[in-house]
This record gives sequence, C-alpha cells and structure tokens, in this order.
Amino acid sequence: MTQKTVTLIDNSTGKKYEYPVLEGTVGPAVIDIRKLYSDTGYFTFDPGYTSTGSTESQITYIDGDKGILLHRGYAIEDLAEHSDFLEVCYLLLNGALPTQKEREQFEHTITHHTMVHEQLTAFYRGFRRDAHPMAVLCGVTGALSAFYHDSTDINDPQQRLIASHRMIAKIPTIAAMAYKYSIGQPFVYPRNDLSFAENFLHMMFAVPCEPYRVNPVVAKAMDRILILHADHEQNASTSTVRLAGSSGANPFACVAAGIASLWGPAHGGANEAVLKMLQEIGSKDRIPEFVRRAKDKNDNFRLMGFGHRVYKNYDPRAQVMRRTCHEVLAELGIKDEPLLDIAMELERIALEDDYFIEKKLYPNVDFYSGIILKAIGLPTSMFTVLFAVARTVGWIAQWKEMIEDPQQKIGRPRQLYTGQTHRAYVPVGQRG
Ligand code: SDX
Repeated sequence: MTQKTVTLIDNSTGKKYEYPVLEGTVGPAVIDIRKLYSDTGYFTFDPGYTSTGSTESQITYIDGDKGILLHRGYAIEDLAEHSDFLEVCYLLLNGALPTQKEREQFEHTITHHTMVHEQLTAFYRGFRRDAHPMAVLCGVTGALSAFYHDSTDINDPQQRLIASHRMIAKIPTIAAMAYKYSIGQPFVYPRNDLSFAENFLHMMFAVPCEPYRVNPVVAKAMDRILILHADHEQNASTSTVRLAGSSGANPFACVAAGIASLWGPAHGGANEAVLKMLQEIGSKDRIPEFVRRAKDKNDNFRLMGFGHRVYKNYDPRAQVMRRTCHEVLAELGIKDEPLLDIAMELERIALEDDYFIEKKLYPNVDFYSGIILKAIGLPTSMFTVLFAVARTVGWIAQWKEMIEDPQQKIGRPRQLYTGQTHRAYVPVGQRG
C-alpha cells in the first residue's frame, strides 16, 4: 500500500514539501511533521494543542463525536458494569485483562504496598489543618521521591515496575491521611483484607474507637467512580506527567506534577466547582440566571461540569455516573437531594438551549460525581483528591508507556516570539 502523504506549498517561495500521514488502528490519522522546521524554517502554532498529537499511545481511545471511550479496546461502559478498579489498573498497565492467577498476584502486590514509610507522617504536621487536601497530596506525593530510592532509577525496568505499584497502592493511603489530618483524627492504617475501594473508605471514615463496616453499595459506587476516572488519553494532567517524565524525572515527582495540573477548575477541580456552583444556584428558579451568565461573553462564569475539549457529544462517563448517582441516593435512602434536583433541571434546560446545542456542550464526568461523593460523605475539598486517586494509574501507565517508547525524547515545544528585538542596555540614570 502506498504511503499516504500531504503536500505543503509555501506560496512565498513556491516550494513544495511532502509529509507522511501516519494511520492509527482507529481515529484520526496524523501528519508527521517532525521534519517541518528543518525543511521549511517554520514552526507549527497550536496553543492548547487542539490539533496536535503529542505521542503515539495504545492505552486509551476517545471518539468525541460518538461518545466512545475505550481502555485497551474495552468500552468504559463494559468495564464499569463488569470489571473492578484493580482489574482496570492491571489492564491499563499491562494491555490485557488478567487471568485469575495474574489477578491474584497483582492484588497481592498492590495490597502489600499500601502502607507508607512511617516517617512520611511527619510531613502532614508541617501543613495547616485547613490546608486544601490537594496541596497536601501534591506535597506528600512529591516527598515519596525522598523515601523510595530503590525505585527511582527509571532506566531499570524492575524499579519502574515497583515504583508503578507503589504509586498506585500508596495514593489512597496518602489521600485518606490528608483527610484525617484536616479533621484532626488519627491516621488509619490500610487493611490487607479489604478491596481497593473498601480500603480507601475504611482509611477515610474508620476511627480507632469502634469497628467500621464498609457499606457494600457505597464501596461498589466508589469502585465504579475510580474506574470512570482512571485514564483519559492525553488530557492536561497526563500530558504534564509525560512532559515531566520526558526529562527523566522520577515517577513520584511526575505524579506530583500531574496532581498539580489536575487541581485546576477547568480540569479535575471541576467536580468541586460543580458542587459549589449547584450550592450557589440554590434553587431551580435561579437556573435561568446562571445559564444566561454562562452565555454572556462579558461574564467569565462557565457552567462547571459542562463542555469538553474532545467530547462533542455526551461524555459516556457522565451517563454511567448519572445512573450511579440515582442508585447510590436510592440505596442510601436519600429521597430529596436538592442538589440533584437542581443538577437534573440544569441539565434539562442547558441541553435544550441553542447556545449549548451550538457549542456542543454536554455534561462531563464531573457533573454528577460531586453529588455521589457528597452522599458518600466526602467533603467537597476531597472531590479532586478522589479524582487524583483514580487517575494515578492512568498517569503511571502513560508515564511507563512513554519511558518504554523507543521514539521518546525530552519534550521541548517552540513558540511564536512577538516580544522586543535586541536593544542596548540603558543605565538607570538615562531612563525616561
Ligand atoms: C475534565 O481533557 C480531558 O479529558 C479532561 C477530563 C479527563 O478525564 O481528564 O475529561 C476531565 O477536565 C473534564 C472537564 C471539566 N471542566 C469543566 O467542567 C469546566 C467547565 N468546562 C470548560 O471550562 C470547558 O468546557 C473545557 C475546559 C472543559 C473545555 O474547554 P475547550 O475545549 O478549550 O473549549 P473552549 O473553552 O474553547 O470553549 C468552546 C466554546 C467557548 O465559546 P466561544 O469562545 O467559542 O464563543 O464553548 C464555550 C466557551 O466559552 N464553553 C462554555 C463552557 N465550556 C465551553 N460556555 C459555558 N459553560 C461552559 N462550561
């Protein structure tokens, strides 16, 4: 089959340049422009990378128009329905669903890495009790680099594997410790007899004074929420992890960078922002006022939980989250959750509004997750922390793929410079 190419004509010189088109297994093909600058002296210009592929990957595929999300080829709806988070972790890391034996071995490995070095607890005492838990998570995760020197050599496959397992296993422990610290309760150690989701709930809500029974419905919902947030192609935080890792930085430091990026309200911080927005709206009759503000170009207010760079149709995760939201509230006997009523009415109004239809703005993964997390008992400030707990496996899988990619090189974008050209230095006495 002949190689497909595209031709670029520089109209100022009449010169023609031909570039190969690389086809994936599914989704848009890419124009390989790696030689563009050396051929033409031009850079491309694509702030926000709306049309730029930064890497080849085999982990996650999104079709934004059809609302499709695949992890190693498996649809998110199937994984949410039939799998569990630890199996999805194995799938993202290894590329295939585990056999029973592989699953048991992986579960044993992760379970036996859930404790953190006891000295790490000292880091928490340096934070104010009212510090945002994302600040604590970012700091303590970065500090892991100072403890696990036997798994920071990224060129050693065995150390990469141990570091990956440690990061996935310890992030829920670190996250729960951030919550306990914020409410002045003692840290709760992980338990090896609990599943990943059960263990997280136990470390979050158990107290030493009495036994804690994990609600199986809540544990199942938590496990599903973790699956829905596990990975999502080259989003802002994953791209941050890849760029940090491209310099050879250790995986703990790279994940800390990912946590920092996820915190932003345009990204993972949106789930916290959605709940605050629903609380600010306060009642259904104020919804039109907020929808109007979201459409007003002079108002920088946006409907949090709506819109997506890739999904121009419904975010498939939002649909699963919506169903889970109703299930959890029903199971917990929460009949009248006003925030859910406002959310559903806001969704109905927005989806009928010409502005949202024209801009293809649909609810995304963050729109309903906050309502479930609030029902489960997480404080709003822990919502993005939960997102980070789930996304850590995606960051680690993508980091590992990058390190093992023979084409990998340090990321170093260029720019369009519009600043001052060279000018002579002027001593302060001669300045205007
Ligand atoms: C996540 O990338 C990922 O995969 C992320 C994520 C993941 O799993 O990693 O899916 C997780 O981050 C989900 C998104 C969570 N963020 C929010 O819910 C915050 C609210 N949403 C927006 O900030 C926005 O929709 C983004 C950031 C999500 C996407 O922004 P884009 O792709 O850069 O789109 P844009 O800002 O250029 O918007 C296009 C138009 C603009 O109008 P015009 O300038 O063309 O006139 O749509 C408007 C925007 O003003 N618009 C909105 C809107 N989102 C976009 N208007 C009102 N409310 C909104 N929410």
